[in-house]
Amino acid sequence: MTPLKIQVYGKSGRLDAILEAYFRSRRNVEIETVSEVTNPSYRVKGKVIVGRSDDLAVIEECAKQFRPDFAMIGPEEPLAAGAVDKLAELGIPAVGPTQKLAQLESSKTFTRMLLAEYGIRGNPIFRVFYSLNGIEGYLRQQESFVVKPDGLTGGKGVKLSGEHLHSVDAAVDYCRQLFASGQQAILIEEKLEGEEFSLQSFYDGQHIAHTMPVQDHKRAKEGDTGLNTGGVGSYSCPDHLLPFLTKDDVREAEDINRRACEAVSEKIGQPYKGIIYGNFMLTRNGLRLIEYNARFGDPEALNVLPLMETDFVDVSEAIIKGELDKLDVRFRNLATVCKYVVPEGYPDRPVKDAVIDMDAVNRLPDVGGRLRLYYGAVDDQDGRLVMTGSRAVGIVGIAETLFEAERIAENAASLVGGPVYHRRDIGTPQLVQKRKDHMDRIFGRRSKYAG
Ligand code: AMP
Ligand code: GLY
Repeated sequence: MTPLKIQVYGKSGRLDAILEAYFRSRRNVEIETVSEVTNPSYRVKGKVIVGRSDDLAVIEECAKQFRPDFAMIGPEEPLAAGAVDKLAELGIPAVGPTQKLAQLESSKTFTRMLLAEYGIRGNPIFRVFYSLNGIEGYLRQQESFVVKPDGLTGGKGVKLSGEHLHSVDAAVDYCRQLFASGQQAILIEEKLEGEEFSLQSFYDGQHIAHTMPVQDHKRAKEGDTGLNTGGVGSYSCPDHLLPFLTKDDVREAEDINRRACEAVSEKIGQPYKGIIYGNFMLTRNGLRLIEYNARFGDPEALNVLPLMETDFVDVSEAIIKGELDKLDVRFRNLATVCKYVVPEGYPDRPVKDAVIDMDAVNRLPDVGGRLRLYYGAVDDQDGRLVMTGSRAVGIVGIAETLFEAERIAENAASLVGGPVYHRRDIGTPQLVQKRKDHMDRIFGRRSKYAG
């Protein structure tokens, strides 16, 4: 029987988790990856073509060569560049939204206005500005605020009053810079307080299936200090809740994801097919949507994909065919803790081309797949594994309890050699307690969650 051909685009540990999910399939598959990095872990799962995964010319050439049955797009840049539209022109279906639908991630003002237009809960108080006109007066009326450029900035454009912006003048200056650098619009919104979590769902144009909530850690250093990053570690719980979330909170987030998918499909006039990732914050006044992503989260994909019981090839085909209702998308009731090992100096001044030594980790016994290694920003240079500057290896522990999962991940992460670091506190009882205490303070000590 000829194998099903799958072409996967991107880079990072998230891509390795996606590749593993396809590689593990009971179906007969042939996988080809198009990536910027010569990551040896990708090569274990299939052929790797080195090229820019967000370059439409590269995508066209690679897709014509390989003629996949379907494609899967890992990160946001190819989606925003129109990778799915290009593949559709070639008659190749993809897991991932078209360029217009991907505005859910690539334009923050689009998403705020979409939710407002369709009456979907979750927006903070916000206002959109297309020029500096009126910005200063508006900011002076606010107690606190967040300034967000409309377009993709790799998580680096959002600035909060009191943290990055210490006066209205500084905020106006920042807005001036943003317009000068070509931003078309700026979103100014209420500064919220609460605990954040991610909820990733699959949508096939009509039906939705959800994964479990995950909590990511954006700050580079222990105790939530240091610079913001794309996320240096994350955890999920065996009951598919989080220690500060109730079932009702999760249902509400699921409902917001579903309504956002329906709204964007109707508004654009195309079915949204792919992953939707809601970044939510539970606040004193209820659930708020911080932003949408049109793809899996990194590291959040590393938490959910290893627990998926349903074959990810089947899930991908169901998304493409609009048949998610015919599948029972299930996840094992286990805890996961992911710790990203990153180069020293990450995120702003990472050492580059330094060797990362995984020998001691590779010698660890892996009991029942409870330890997973997902390779990200690494190159194979004549058999030496070198870091290219971003998150290098995502180490995931899987166990019955959160704290056992943490021990598995921590033990392995601490054995990685080279100029690297990781956050030892992610998934520990102390840090989880801190999250619960934070929610307690917000709810005035009347915690509404269990545990
Ligand atoms: P984003 O690039 O939209 O993910 O924003 C980066 C981070 O800024 C989020 O993960 C939040 O921690 C924070 N943030 C964004 N919007 C708000 C808001 N309205 N209130 C408080 N924090 C926010
Ligand atoms: N973990 C945050 C992101 O994937 O955007």
